[in-house]
Amino acid sequence: MGAWGRSRIWLKRLVQRCETVGVARLPTALAPQIPIERWDVRPLAAMLTAASAVAAVAAEQTRRSHSKLSCASTQRVSLGPITDFEEASMREVKMEGGGAVLVHRHQGEFFVTSPACGHYGAPLRKGVSSAGGRGGPPTITCPLHDATFDLRTGQVVRGPSVDGIAVYKSEVKNGVLFADVPSEIVSGTGKHAKVLKQMAKRKPGDERVFALLGGGPASLAAAETLRQEGFTGRIVMITREPHLPYDRVQLSKALDKPVEKLLLRPEGFFKDYDIDVIRNASVTKLDTKTQNVHYMNADGQKESLHYDKVLVATGGTPRKLFVPGADLNNIFTLRTPEDAAKIAQLAKKGQKMIVVGGSFIGMEVASSLAKKGCDVAVIAMETVPFERVLGKKVGASFARKLQKEGVEWFGTSQVRLFRGNETVNGVELEDGEVLPADAVVVGAGVLPNTRFIEGLSLDKNGAIIVNPLLQAEACDNLFAAGDVCAYPAIRTGQRVRIEHWDVATQQGRVAAQNMLGKYQPFTTTPFFWSGLFGNLNLRFVGHAPEALDRVIIEGDVSNMEFVSYYTEDDEIRAVATVNKDPVAVACPGLRRSGLHTLFPTVAGLRRLRF
Ligand SMILES: Cc1cc2nc3c(=O)[nH]c(=O)nc-3n(C[C@H](O)[C@H](O)[C@H](O)COP(=O)(O)OP(=O)(O)OC[C@H]3O[C@@H](n4cnc5c(N)ncnc54)[C@H](O)[C@@H]3O)c2cc1C
Ligand code: FES
Repeated sequence: MGAWGRSRIWLKRLVQRCETVGVARLPTALAPQIPIERWDVRPLAAMLTAASAVAAVAAEQTRRSHSKLSCASTQRVSLGPITDFEEASMREVKMEGGGAVLVHRHQGEFFVTSPACGHYGAPLRKGVSSAGGRGGPPTITCPLHDATFDLRTGQVVRGPSVDGIAVYKSEVKNGVLFADVPSEIVSGTGKHAKVLKQMAKRKPGDERVFALLGGGPASLAAAETLRQEGFTGRIVMITREPHLPYDRVQLSKALDKPVEKLLLRPEGFFKDYDIDVIRNASVTKLDTKTQNVHYMNADGQKESLHYDKVLVATGGTPRKLFVPGADLNNIFTLRTPEDAAKIAQLAKKGQKMIVVGGSFIGMEVASSLAKKGCDVAVIAMETVPFERVLGKKVGASFARKLQKEGVEWFGTSQVRLFRGNETVNGVELEDGEVLPADAVVVGAGVLPNTRFIEGLSLDKNGAIIVNPLLQAEACDNLFAAGDVCAYPAIRTGQRVRIEHWDVATQQGRVAAQNMLGKYQPFTTTPFFWSGLFGNLNLRFVGHAPEALDRVIIEGDVSNMEFVSYYTEDDEIRAVATVNKDPVAVACPGLRRSGLHTLFPTVAGLRRLRF
């Protein structure tokens, strides 16, 4: 039986179990009507919808209190009879003028939104539209990077997007769905607006100072959340980089993109919302007892700032290799636009580029260099790429892909030394083999930037130990988010430090709420994405380092289209997908909605003999 048939069975079983457990009762007419395409997750979304206990009254209040985009320049358009829209589904509707909107229907309610994601603009119709769960709002989740938006307000619920999406007022009259849509959207000549939650401004009388250390996604998300939650005190972001917060993840995927094109917010945004950003300023000491941050400003002068609360979000510094020759020219790590520009300058056709490290950064850099026509070799301690994050079985498929793309893989290898005079010209391995090199990029993980902290005990890697509120254990006015923090995983309570963009962003949001005393635990399931060779979309959801050798793979591994389930006892702990969007973003949805019992079991997957 092919993957299509198996997927169908799996989804049908989910439908049956959904009904037997009684958590969800699918409308009987619904299940057979859902067109179950190969790996189409609409049925999952349907189950989420049917099962979620929506707090209807509260929801209606939110709906009424929130002003939707409706003004003089809007036009009332007919989107068709309501029978055109299946329950628990979404559909993109082209309007007569040429523009398009996305219509969602959940529990008899209609929502009309922009069809494009607020992050990189991916088509949301390929994602997962859900009625929400556990009293949460109905949402749309983008298939690419898990950005999730509230269907009632358009605001970001989680994920990498800084902006929300446009939602349009709708009404059903005589069995026809109408929406008030701006004329330029109807005609297809304008862009859907992006939505920003209302932000407070600084009030002169409010003397409180909240310091945000670092200028990455965690810090930016915290600054915006503080203002959105009504904080009117002073917000000071201190970053050692010369740039405003930018989209770091693109550096390894497009080495030569100018930083101006990567900025997450323009300069005016920070001015408009009174967020002071001190750039080129390196924090040298965080005195937790006196509540002072000491830093070196752009002119090399020492300065300090007294804070009421502080968020440490200083990210990580790439590990270097401590072997002879490691300080030769043309040996790089990659964390900043400046690093990327230096690598890009040497990445010319035929150049011999060595990448050290077979995980995400290493593989993405190898892919970018290969695309530029370089002669690329990867050296790694693991036997196959991604072994430590995806396991051997899945890693082996990436090894074959590397080979196809002409990238040489030197697994189970270690660098003994770098050869060269001033500039590197070769890499010698432990077994004596020497690889010629014009340049080397080392992607060997990162260490948390926390050396400046005084008066706080850190974990063995230097990470800040926090509780579920992202608050330091022994210092309740210090919070940490992103790559610097070791937090208790919601399922196991085990301390984990996860270097993912989405985790950093969401932690920034949650930490900000807790700085304001909102008691909001961090419970988001980790989500990571990667893009390789222009056609491989890898997603990983969950966290299961101990389960990497207990993997069940479904799909076509040789053609790089598969889902792998990482298992522990009889449960699935993490899921990786390659070119199987939006399966990865649908999985945590099941858990969030309390439907984790509907997740396929290990025994169930085995019975299907994938
Ligand atoms: C090249 C690259 C590609 C990546 N691709 C992906 C991807 O595809 N998907 C994904 O999920 N994740 C990806 N990641 C990981 C992701 O970027 C990080 O997890 C995320 O940036 C962490 O955010 P953060 O806010 O904790 O720290 P950072 O983004 O590292 O920001 C920390 C900030 O603090 C500043 N800082 C550090 N020390 C000091 C100091 N002493 N004083 C003042 N400022 C200081 C830094 O300059 C920086 O501005 C990638 C990372 C890199 C480097
Ligand atoms: S494009 Fe939608 S989350 Fe990235």
